[in-house]
Amino acid sequence: MTYVRNAWYVAEWSVNVPVGKPFGTTILGEPIVIFRKPDGGLAAMANRCVHRGAPLSLGRCEADGLRCMYHGMLYNAAGCVTEIPGQDAVPPNAKVKTYPVVEKDSWVWVWMGDTVADAALVPKAIGLDDPNWLLGHGHMDYDAEAQLINDNLLDFSHLSYVHASSFQVGDSFAQEQPVVTPLDRGIRYERWTTNAAPPLGANPTLRFDNYITYDFLIPGILLMWSGGFPLGTAAKFNHGRPDFDLACNGVNFTNQAVTPLQPGKARYLFSWGPHCKHGDAILRDNMIKLAYVAFNEDKTMIEAQQKVLHRSPDFQIMPSRHDRTVLLYTRLVEKLAKQEVA
Ligand code: FES
Ligand SMILES: [Fe+2]
Repeated sequence: MTYVRNAWYVAEWSVNVPVGKPFGTTILGEPIVIFRKPDGGLAAMANRCVHRGAPLSLGRCEADGLRCMYHGMLYNAAGCVTEIPGQDAVPPNAKVKTYPVVEKDSWVWVWMGDTVADAALVPKAIGLDDPNWLLGHGHMDYDAEAQLINDNLLDFSHLSYVHASSFQVGDSFAQEQPVVTPLDRGIRYERWTTNAAPPLGANPTLRFDNYITYDFLIPGILLMWSGGFPLGTAAKFNHGRPDFDLACNGVNFTNQAVTPLQPGKARYLFSWGPHCKHGDAILRDNMIKLAYVAFNEDKTMIEAQQKVLHRSPDFQIMPSRHDRTVLLYTRLVEKLAKQEVA
């Protein structure tokens, strides 16, 4: 599978990396440990002690450093061994690879490229502490390639079938095509459903023009908001992007991230919830419960698909019209990956 390396990958929710508790993960097959220093700053380095390869994520945070708890070598935040119990000298090559790491919008992001990390390339998500939104959050681990989850998130026609009983959006997501716009580092998806039941949390007998839009960005970040508008709004905006302030019902936002851990394994992190003017904590909690139901439906389908593909190495997809979003994004990934190699 092809993935872009010069990108910020979401390693974990910030709240799950507290001071004093190293967090071990893999990204693009590389074992990484992330730990929080007493001043709140983060450090990320290879999760493999230079001595005998023990995982540093089983280590102990000490001041600004991390001690391997097998034979006690102490690392500073720059990945250098500063102390070896029982000997005075530390060899100059006693160090592990470090990774640029930033914390933004409630996520811990790790730069996997060999080039200088570009802070401007962190996608603009919405943090759990944003006062405008009431976001709940969660994650699930997949026995599947991250690319299959990306493909799923790029083709919402599956909502009509995979989520027939959870999201209950009817068949319009499959029958009608969205408006898709290429972006520098992703694609933008937009669609209207006119004269429809409210998205969430309102009297289901009422009717609205529902709008949904998301950006799907390298390396697998989905940022989506949707909401209900007064009937006639879709026509008023010529079925294009509406004025957000005109939304009158069910405005909600979701951040989602797909991180390739290693071949055949991925982590899916998500938040979801209402705008503070369109819901409360009870609605948020119900949305997260619904998200777990729906995202488990995706997981069941994608992991089963992964098993079939694993047994069919020569299988070639037969794209449908809905696949143009998948193809646009896949071509972008291949182009950027090729530039990296060049
Ligand atoms: S493996 Fe880490 S100190 Fe021995
Ligand atoms: Fe889905």
